[in-house]
Amino acid sequence: MTKPRKLFVKTYGCQMNVYDSERMSTALGVSGYQATDRPEDADLILLNTCHIREKAAEKVYSELGRLKPLKLGNPDLMIGVTGCVAQAEGAEIMRRQPAVDIVVGPQAYHRLPEMERHARQGAKMIDTDFPDEDKFDHLPRGPKMRRAPAAFLTVQEGCDKFCAFCVVPYTRGSEASRPAARILDEARDLLERGVREITLLGQNVNAYHGHSGDGDWSLARLIRELAKLDGLERIRFTTSHPNDMQEDLITAFGEVDKLMPYLHLPVQSGSDRILKAMNRRHTAENYLKLVDRIRAQRPDLMLSGDFIVGFPGETEADFQATLELVETVRYGQAYSFKYSARPGTPAAERAEVPAVDKTDRLARLQTLLTAQQKEAQNAMVGRQVKVLFEKAGRRQGQLVGKSEYLHAVHVSCGPSRIGEVLPVRITSSAVNSLSGELV
Ligand code: SAH
Ligand code: SF4
Ligand code: F3S
Repeated sequence: MTKPRKLFVKTYGCQMNVYDSERMSTALGVSGYQATDRPEDADLILLNTCHIREKAAEKVYSELGRLKPLKLGNPDLMIGVTGCVAQAEGAEIMRRQPAVDIVVGPQAYHRLPEMERHARQGAKMIDTDFPDEDKFDHLPRGPKMRRAPAAFLTVQEGCDKFCAFCVVPYTRGSEASRPAARILDEARDLLERGVREITLLGQNVNAYHGHSGDGDWSLARLIRELAKLDGLERIRFTTSHPNDMQEDLITAFGEVDKLMPYLHLPVQSGSDRILKAMNRRHTAENYLKLVDRIRAQRPDLMLSGDFIVGFPGETEADFQATLELVETVRYGQAYSFKYSARPGTPAAERAEVPAVDKTDRLARLQTLLTAQQKEAQNAMVGRQVKVLFEKAGRRQGQLVGKSEYLHAVHVSCGPSRIGEVLPVRITSSAVNSLSGELV
């Protein structure tokens, strides 16, 4: 018998890439590959890449430079680039780094096993098509094996919003929703593998509109149907756009027990002038009213957001408006970035804010957001939460899991509790996690 070939996958970017990496690994597993976490042992290395900011995209080329010498030690080694850099740069990747054998964009992953076979025969393989067939229907689920209790499940992909700064509509294509019946099947399959929490993914997940032969399915309808599945304890979804937050989804927060009280709702800026220049199609006031309506349904909701500082044309007064919005909303957690001009996007044509101002604004915004995060965590101390235990913790005899509010919680308890949801009293708060004890 020949030795099975080894696969090493490195994932950058968002949760959708994490999900895609898993699906590609499973498909290659069916073709005979075994996973390894050591690139030097691999016969196929995949970099599943992100194009969202310049830094993210450039990381890929430095990583490729580091991996290239491994080909000297293993003439069988193939290197593939997948994800959003693959889609955005295509053949340019092989020009810049000839050690790359395969380039495949996010909508063509089901063709990867076949591309790998051709690449082994010496062909350079590139596929950045947006084919009509649904890749997920052609990516195998693999043998039924137990897996981690929290899983991602892509329900919607692509974006038609065209925010002026963003590459996603170009790298992931236009908005497409998977049929509800397929999603429910996949959820049942995950439950049989020990999954207890599912996070529904989409670049605009709340724009989900599935069709399964019985009328329109909104995200709220899908969530209510998923909530009926025995064994599924928790449902989350990300990322939402403020303009797609429909009434039925808002009321689901008050009505569906399995829907967790956490919502990632990016606003990007608190200045209406900048929101308009970003083509966001909402104002700061729309956003604040929306937050009030959701909190009326679920007063304990933990909110998270994304912010860009130094978008072209942003003045100190615009930035102050962002700080004010943050003061009003009070986020439990948030991500903030310096604006990064991306080739091909409308904003890339505009004059940039000086780098020193971007750096200064990011530091001030992050100081405020960090203080809010700390405050939200400290407010948990003494409270009882429910934790889904996911894996071994930092220390011996410890497990780590997530609370309803997505806080990581470390608790002393035996490994047999992985996959269980148990009541925990929070005893202390650290920088990015909480500690507690079983009640
Ligand atoms: N679909 C999601 C997330 C898109 S990317 C949404 O609509 O919110 C994640 C975050 O990266 C964005 O919310 C934005 O804050 C940030 N981002 C996107 N393009 C960027 C750019 N050119 N420069 C800096 N940050 C960017
Ligand atoms: Fe990008 Fe805007 Fe679409 Fe989000 S909504 S993926 S930020 S274009
Ligand atoms: Fe990055 Fe593509 Fe996700 S650009 S954030 S990997 S959709």
